[in-house]
Amino acid sequence: MSTNIESHLVENRIFKPSKELSKKAHITSLAEYMELYRKSIINPEKFWAKQAGELLFWRKKWKTVLEWKEPFAKWFVGGKLNVSENCLDRHLTGATRNKAALIWEGEPGDKVTLTYQQLHREVCKFANVLKRNHIKKGDRVIIYMPMCPEAAIAMLACARIGAIHSVVFGGFSSESIKDRIKDCGARMVITADGGYRRGAIVPLKKNVDDALKDNEQIERVIVFRRANNEIHIKEGRDAWWHREMEYVDGNCPPELMDSEDPLYILYTSGSTGKPKGIMHTSAGYLLGTALTTKYVFDLKSEDIYWCTADIGWVTGHSYTVYGPLCNGATVLIYEGAPNWPEPDRLWELIEEYGVTLLYTAPTAIRAFIRWGDEYPNQHDLSSLRLLGTVGEPINPEAWMWYHTVIGGGRCPIVDTWWQTETGAIMITPLPGATPLKPGSATLPFFGIDAAVVDDQGEEVPPNVGGKLVVRKPWPSMLRTIWGDKQRYKKQYWSEVKGCYFTGDGARRDKDGYFWIVGRIDDVLNVAGHRLGTSEIESALVSHPCVAEAAVVGRPDEIKGQAVVAFVTLKEKEHPTPELREKLRQHVATAIGAIAKPDDIRFAEGLPKTRSGKIMRRLLKEIAGGGQVTGDTTTLEDFNVLAKLKGVHD
Ligand code: PRX
Repeated sequence: MSTNIESHLVENRIFKPSKELSKKAHITSLAEYMELYRKSIINPEKFWAKQAGELLFWRKKWKTVLEWKEPFAKWFVGGKLNVSENCLDRHLTGATRNKAALIWEGEPGDKVTLTYQQLHREVCKFANVLKRNHIKKGDRVIIYMPMCPEAAIAMLACARIGAIHSVVFGGFSSESIKDRIKDCGARMVITADGGYRRGAIVPLKKNVDDALKDNEQIERVIVFRRANNEIHIKEGRDAWWHREMEYVDGNCPPELMDSEDPLYILYTSGSTGKPKGIMHTSAGYLLGTALTTKYVFDLKSEDIYWCTADIGWVTGHSYTVYGPLCNGATVLIYEGAPNWPEPDRLWELIEEYGVTLLYTAPTAIRAFIRWGDEYPNQHDLSSLRLLGTVGEPINPEAWMWYHTVIGGGRCPIVDTWWQTETGAIMITPLPGATPLKPGSATLPFFGIDAAVVDDQGEEVPPNVGGKLVVRKPWPSMLRTIWGDKQRYKKQYWSEVKGCYFTGDGARRDKDGYFWIVGRIDDVLNVAGHRLGTSEIESALVSHPCVAEAAVVGRPDEIKGQAVVAFVTLKEKEHPTPELREKLRQHVATAIGAIAKPDDIRFAEGLPKTRSGKIMRRLLKEIAGGGQVTGDTTTLEDFNVLAKLKGVHD
């Protein structure tokens, strides 16, 4: 029996970049990409060194490009720079000085714009606040903030003095804050009184207070006043942001940092297990994010760029803060929910600010589809010139909707594959060069040696599924799991010899395009056939009544595993036994009888992590008829789970 993953879904649509777009793009043709990619893989160190010299501002040049003692990498050894200086000071000499760096809108509609000069001043002042409160290079600082400019200011201020930040997503509970404080040994927490979400106030400071009960480790809590909700101030420990800012001046020379000094720790759970503190360092990370922002979004100085991810996720780190600011871009930040007060809020913002680049997640796109086309259709979205997605495979039908309804058929879509661990985008189209295929993240970025291999580490033939790996180190890769080198080694560098193992399954088609088929742990084994989850899900979503689907296996005496699909319908559709049968047939027609779901369960919602990933592990337990026993702390909405447990029909 083959252990390779089979692939049955065929997607033949191709969208070539328009001539006009290609002409103006940084990379103008597939041939140019291919040639540059070839060279970058033959000699990655030469490639990365050239980019690092051109794109970053160095205080002292590196001596060695790469020191690689598998699985530990050091990039640009001996080099000195400061990440905040790269994101701010270097833009102050020319016209960019007075360009908007951050444009912010709060959920209630309040607005703030900070130019590069203003942002620089705020960051310097807050860096002095950190110093005043005895934070030094190498100290760990927790940031637990709403989506507001001060969250970015806090991150950049840490970078300026060499403190290591660890941002905790504002939707996480006090338990999560507590665990992370403990794991990284933080000395300070930066938070706000509260933040707005769907018209309510999230009690951020209260959550911090709960996390700090019996805690001796945190010496100082700095509180930004955002929502004016009542909070408790603990004398001697807590201080208001605005008060602290009164005592400091606007000059703070950047700390000279080594290329390999840590920049941040970001905790990720994936969909299972104890959160891991992913550690990124300074120069390599900044290079990866800056270079990909420039090429993948084909960034131009006049763009208004909006990545909708919260700053608490890696996407917010790399593509709201570090990548765009290093390039001198104008970034939009919005505090609240995309459907508040109405499901058109996102489109309203795009129209109001003339957003040109929109980067969001498939889970959000499927929600927009579910809410209905009337919401985007109320707004003029003609400013958009490029769309992006990240976080999950995008089902071809959702891709088509995004392309037509949001992009008006004229905007390329960059489906970007990467991970918290990779720091920056790894597999992606380049808008002026790469013909697009809906559902495929297409081709590897420069310098990224991605491959699909079997259990022995041999590359598999076209259209055969296997493990997605990266065969060479790259500058923005994680350096370790904080405090746990063994886990780092075991998790990422022991599954396939000599390679970084991503945990994802994928196949490449005859053109070398990558198609992610889901997490390897979720692969189904039906009567000896190994099937990835994403193709069956995409087949379901291609039915006009379906908004979202998640597929899992259930133990089956005869087949090994039976296919169980959880399906959410579009708002105006109703579940019926006829529809269930139609959907089963629909999958059989699209993929083949082997993938036909044995069971389809209609659900109002699917269990997701806070970042929008479907938690198939929980669905597997429900499908198997058992209790949900695993860790549910990353689950977004417990009601969804409760309802699902009751649904057997
Ligand atoms: O399974 C892949 C999926 O998200 C995982 C990484 O998740 P996280 O560390 O939370 O980072 C999300 C933002 C970078 C991957 O292992 N994933 C991410 N992007 C894609 C994707 N799956 C398919 N296509 C993508 N474009």
